[in-house]
Amino acid sequence: MKEFSAAARQEAEGYLGKYPKKEAALLPILHLAQKDFGFIDDEAELAVADLMGISPISVREASRFYFMYHHHPIGKFHLQVCQNITCTIMGAETILSHLKDKLGIEAEQRTEDELFSIERVECIACCDVGPAMLINEDLVTNLTAEKVDAVLDKCRDGQELGDLVTSAVRRIKEAPVTQAAPPPPAETPKTEAPEPPQEEPKADEKKEKPDASADKETE
Ligand code: FES
Repeated sequence: MKEFSAAARQEAEGYLGKYPKKEAALLPILHLAQKDFGFIDDEAELAVADLMGISPISVREASRFYFMYHHHPIGKFHLQVCQNITCTIMGAETILSHLKDKLGIEAEQRTEDELFSIERVECIACCDVGPAMLINEDLVTNLTAEKVDAVLDKCRDGQELGDLVTSAVRRIKEAPVTQAAPPPPAETPKTEAPEPPQEEPKADEKKEKPDASADKETE
C-alpha cells in the first residue's frame, strides 16, 4: 500500500476535522492523493481508505465515478476526449484515432517523453459544440484533425492555446437567452348568472279557473 507524505497526511487530517461525517472529506482527499501519488490506482485507493477509516469500496466508487481522478500516469498535457453519444455522432472516434496516430499511443496511455496522455471520458457538457476534449483544464470544441494538430504543436512549443480554447464563461455569456413565454392568464371561475326574480302573477291572473268538473255535475 502507498504511503501519504507527511504534508499530505496533515492536510488530510485538516479536511477530516472540517466535516461531521468523515465521508464528506473523501473528494478533497482523493484530490490530495492524486497530487501526492500522481494518479489514483488500487494502491492509492487503499491508502485513502486506510487514512480515512472507511471501506475501500467507498473510495473506489467515488474515484472511478469522477473523471477528474486519473487512474494511470498522465502526461504534462492530459487530453480527455469525450466519447459520449453526441460527440461520437459528430466524429469523436475519428479525432481519437487521429490523436493516437499523431502521438503513437493508445487511450489511457502516456507518451514516452511524458508530455501527452490520452483518456476517453464521458460527456463534458459541451454536446452542442462537439466533438470536444479537455486539455488539462482547457476546453477545445468543434474538433477537427487540423485543430488537434494546432493544439499539439502549441503544447510542444510551450505556447498558450489562446483562441483554440473555448471559454466556458464566454459560452455562458454568449448563449442566446430564450425568454420563457409568459404563463397564460389564470382562468377566472365562471359564475352562474343569478336566476331572474319570479314575477308576481297579476291580480286578474290570480282568479281561479272555473272548475270544469262542477259544470259536468250541473249538466
Ligand atoms: S457528448 Fe460530448 S460533450 Fe456531451
